Amino acid sequence: MDKLIVEGGIALRGTVRISGAKNAALPLIAATLLAPGRHRLGNVPNLRDTRTFLKLMENLGVRHERQEDVLIIDSTNLRSAEAPYDLVKTMRASVLVLGPLLARMGKAKVSLPGGCAIGARPINFHITGLEKLGATCRLEHGYVDAEIDGRLQGDTVYFDIPTVTGTENLLMAAVLAEGTTILKNAAREPEIANLIDMLTGMGARIEGRNTDRLTIHGVDVLRPADCDIIPDRIEAGTYLIAIAATGGEGTVTHCNPAHLPSLLEKLRLAGLIVDEGESTISVRWPQAKPRALKSVDIKTMPFPGYPTDLQAQFMALMALSADICVITETIFENRFMHVAELQRMGAGIRIDGHSCVINGHGMNGLSGAQVMATDLRASSSLVIAGLAASGRTEISRIYHLERGYENLVEKLTGLGARVWKEQE
Ligand code: EPU
Repeated sequence: MDKLIVEGGIALRGTVRISGAKNAALPLIAATLLAPGRHRLGNVPNLRDTRTFLKLMENLGVRHERQEDVLIIDSTNLRSAEAPYDLVKTMRASVLVLGPLLARMGKAKVSLPGGCAIGARPINFHITGLEKLGATCRLEHGYVDAEIDGRLQGDTVYFDIPTVTGTENLLMAAVLAEGTTILKNAAREPEIANLIDMLTGMGARIEGRNTDRLTIHGVDVLRPADCDIIPDRIEAGTYLIAIAATGGEGTVTHCNPAHLPSLLEKLRLAGLIVDEGESTISVRWPQAKPRALKSVDIKTMPFPGYPTDLQAQFMALMALSADICVITETIFENRFMHVAELQRMGAGIRIDGHSCVINGHGMNGLSGAQVMATDLRASSSLVIAGLAASGRTEISRIYHLERGYENLVEKLTGLGARVWKEQE
């Protein structure tokens, strides 16, 4: 197993190109199940999670070729409708094949993912939504076994909580249903708009893009897709926070500033200067010294609120602030696994229920230590802390990082960081 070594204390400077979004690539790959033929997806990141998802697709009979960031996916010959435990347990997003398999094949058998490092993460809204459209779902032997008699039937589905992959699953099921489906309290993340654009290009009829009420008029058949993945807003946010945390100055390119409204505002409130271009975001410190970061509260919320996937990274930044702030996690019940590791680096953080009180120790407040990555975003907060800390940080279990950050070491090195992988 590899570990990541970070020699901290260097201000990051320069530009970094953002890759396609993991959380858009996965549903878009799943959506190719809806229409037989050769699909083209552009700007697809080459990550552990996209590779795992393609392995799952291969298991179903879907072939693919990759030419740089373009994936050609041929979903003509489906031979299975089953997502086995071995694949689902390594990546919860495998559940995204449930809706499209049911719509195309009339049946789907998908392993229940089980708990994960950030919370219980049930899929009950996916299942009750599909049942509302006429599917029969049985939970047996750890699997959801779903089938339909004929076609799915359009209906109204109300989500108690705006669920991202739940909305995506229901969208993919409803596009081939008979009649009209209305999804109420749907999630509004930019990745969902990306999926809607792909489905529309395939011939689906969907109204309400970027709103919490989606109306889907079912069609009889869809055609193969040709669509680009949107930039990864979480990757972009992670680099902006890293640049800020190291006292640096830099620009993320090939991104969409409109996808990061809350983070950019929070960085400004913390005292940083943030400039938005059409597809670039720059962050820098004001001239005045000594540098003091203002403490800023955050509360995670569904989009356009502050993203839970950038909570851990902002906490690392706030550990360097000059005062006290509160970070509240409202999406997942157990997303503070990074706290104990950040504490090992000297961070003043106290967990209080769903909130953390961060007592910032200033820009020189962290010191390098041996820490352990526990999930994808927790790991990136440790990288940020390591970059800002004095001395050497060793982060073990970095396969978590490889799930969601393309060429992390190369990109950080390009910004001047001293960071490399070593075998444990
Ligand atoms: N929930 C339920 N029942 C359901 C579905 C969701 O109770 O049937 C709850 C969840 O437990 C959670 C809340 O609803 O408390 C919202 O979860 P959501 O379903 O939106 O999360 P997800 O779709 O499983 C996606 C991303 C996550 C991201 C969340 C929130 C993908 C593949 N994953 O997960 O990304 O944190 O939305 O924005 O899109 C990551 O990239 O590191 C990551 C975890």
